Amino acid sequence: MAVTVASKKTAGAPSYVRTPAWRFLASLPVDRRLARYDVAGSVAHVEMLGKVGVLNGDEAHALALGLRNVWREIEAGQFPWRDDLEDVHTNVEVRLTEMLGPLGAKVHTARSRNDQIALDERMFLREAIHAVQDHALRLELALLEVAERHVETLMPGYTHVQRAQPVTLAHHLLAHFWRFGRDVDRLTACFPRANVSPLGAGALAGTTLPIDPAYVARRLGFAATFQNSLDAVSDRDYLAEFLFDLSLLALHLSALGEELVLWSSTEFGFLKPNAELGSGSSLMPQKRNPDVAELARAKAARVTGDLVSLLATLKSLPLAYNRDLQEDKAPVFDALDHVLGTLEALTAAIPTLDFDTERMAQAASDPRMLATDLAEHLVSRGVPFRDAHETVRMFLAAGHPVDAKSLRQFSPRFGDDVAQILDPHTAVRRRATPGGPAPEAVKVQLAKAREAVGLAQYALAKHAEIVKAVDDILQEEST
Ligand code: ARG
Repeated sequence: MAVTVASKKTAGAPSYVRTPAWRFLASLPVDRRLARYDVAGSVAHVEMLGKVGVLNGDEAHALALGLRNVWREIEAGQFPWRDDLEDVHTNVEVRLTEMLGPLGAKVHTARSRNDQIALDERMFLREAIHAVQDHALRLELALLEVAERHVETLMPGYTHVQRAQPVTLAHHLLAHFWRFGRDVDRLTACFPRANVSPLGAGALAGTTLPIDPAYVARRLGFAATFQNSLDAVSDRDYLAEFLFDLSLLALHLSALGEELVLWSSTEFGFLKPNAELGSGSSLMPQKRNPDVAELARAKAARVTGDLVSLLATLKSLPLAYNRDLQEDKAPVFDALDHVLGTLEALTAAIPTLDFDTERMAQAASDPRMLATDLAEHLVSRGVPFRDAHETVRMFLAAGHPVDAKSLRQFSPRFGDDVAQILDPHTAVRRRATPGGPAPEAVKVQLAKAREAVGLAQYALAKHAEIVKAVDDILQEEST
């Protein structure tokens, strides 16, 4: 980034953005993404100034009209963005003044860019939360639908990436489902903390003019206004919290991605290669790589980096606004874009996964995975668990074939019915404890999962109603 000395270009700009360091200070390339919220917030602000009499009715009306025209230009890609005007706020204000003459300069009455940027961010965040929840729910539904088809599909469950006990594919996919469900819940909890209007805090200490922050809040769909002006302009918890929620979500996506990578390997062979999961190799004609899953794995690194970047920016900042806070937006936008992209790619890939269910069942038939079942068989016949564990361990260590005959020969404590324990289907069916992998238990789980999706969709619809305020105010005719 070049620091240029006093450029001619800044000549027409307001004095507060005229400095030799203007290129370094500029945030426009990042914050112009907030234009929608900036204009909507300004419309609500000038309406409020009109209501309290700081502006007369005609002025408020003309400003609101002008702002909506500015928005139309932005929307149509015809807005003359000027990078010498530092940020989105100044660009909008200067353009408004070009359109309306000196009246345009009244838009910033009783307001600072400090409360303005916090307002824009909070409106942005509400929509961002809504978008992530919407995408995450789609992924949840995709997992749920595949799970519903595989209630009986056997596969090994793992600990330490070692075959441990048999489960079903439905049970395994639902484990991922519940993680994403909690991610969506966390975002629901983040929403009301984001949904507080800071406008009226001014630069840091309010204003001497008789404003009505509650009007602006209501108009923009906020549930509340700030309690403390210093807090309102300096606080970025809402963004930090959001980035934490995204980090955890990205982590969960990476874990799912990692399993898809493993399952696609020749060694596992649980997934047959398909185009939805990735592309080919430019060199090796035989290859079809699980690129989508690999990138899902990697994105968690940058999203976590985004969280750390924001936290580090906030550390030790004194009250109230500090210019450091300008650096808060890039990590949020970055994390949001990459999480949404990952959610979309995985949601498209999940329904197309081509499972080699025979190979999975074969892997689940490894009788050594039923060692715990054999020990529990002994327990049900009165053997203390520690003894049972040791008996089975010694039996396996001796390398006997794992069948009923050699088990009974090894220890008469194994019953006549031990043969049925060695069938992996029966073994899964017997794990019918609540939340367990038995098809019977998984059916209960599936019903609960559907119910959870319904509840989340309800919360999402509530959020949709609130975030609609931004479009509504931009589309309304000025009357
Ligand atoms: N671009 C600034 C930001 O993103 C807007 C607020 C500027 N305030 C100021 N006092 N310079 O934080």
